Amino acid sequence: MDIIRVKDYDELSEKACKILTNEIKKSGSSVFGLATGSTPEGLYQQLIEKYKKGNISFADVTSFNLDEYVGLAADDPNSYRYYMDEKLFSHIDLPDEQAFLPNGIADDPDKECHDYEALIKDAGYIDLQVLGLGLNGHIGFNEPGTPVDRRTHVVDLDESTREANARFFNSLDDVPKKALTIGIGSIMESKKIVLLVSGEKKADAVKRLVNGEVSEDFPASILQKHNNVILIADEEALSKL
Ligand code: GLP
Repeated sequence: MDIIRVKDYDELSEKACKILTNEIKKSGSSVFGLATGSTPEGLYQQLIEKYKKGNISFADVTSFNLDEYVGLAADDPNSYRYYMDEKLFSHIDLPDEQAFLPNGIADDPDKECHDYEALIKDAGYIDLQVLGLGLNGHIGFNEPGTPVDRRTHVVDLDESTREANARFFNSLDDVPKKALTIGIGSIMESKKIVLLVSGEKKADAVKRLVNGEVSEDFPASILQKHNNVILIADEEALSKL
């Protein structure tokens, strides 16, 4: 795992933006895996700026988001589809039909997972996967205990994850109990992974990610076994290494 140490969140977003724009410039038709949460927001802002300045185009890019809450429709402000539309998609030239997220209100969630996995395969798998890190080591919504070969599946969210994400909702009761997520097996098939971590509250998680044993109890630890992972982390997040 390569570690890029940055001063702060702005520099983290800049570095990540540079990696994604280089990827687009290199191949044009990149397949990106995208994440939600607070951490990639700065990256998305920077990508929008680059696009507005005419430096990049997403016309030939395809994107697959990691996850979506079960029960939330695209027009629900807490759905990840809504987040992506607001924070990135509506500001750039990525065609709608090339921007995929699992459908949170699919009639048959298991079939939705199966179909989503097939779409990723048809696109030739993910070239560059952006990841954030959950406090309990989750990646996407792969909670502790998830087998490392899992494909896209329906998960029961940990109470700790629901509590961590409750800040986006009116109350903890409003946070869905289930989600659809790309599996760890699918994440590990990405050609390159860029993991973004910022802030002191993630310092213990970063320590376990980098130095801990590889274990299903801490899903992100499996990334130690991937041969092309770049961890971009600020000084606070790296303070316990
Ligand atoms: C959510 C998302 C993850 C994300 C994590 C960390 O649970 N499903 O993909 O990485 O939160 O979020 P944050 O960046 O807000 O700390």
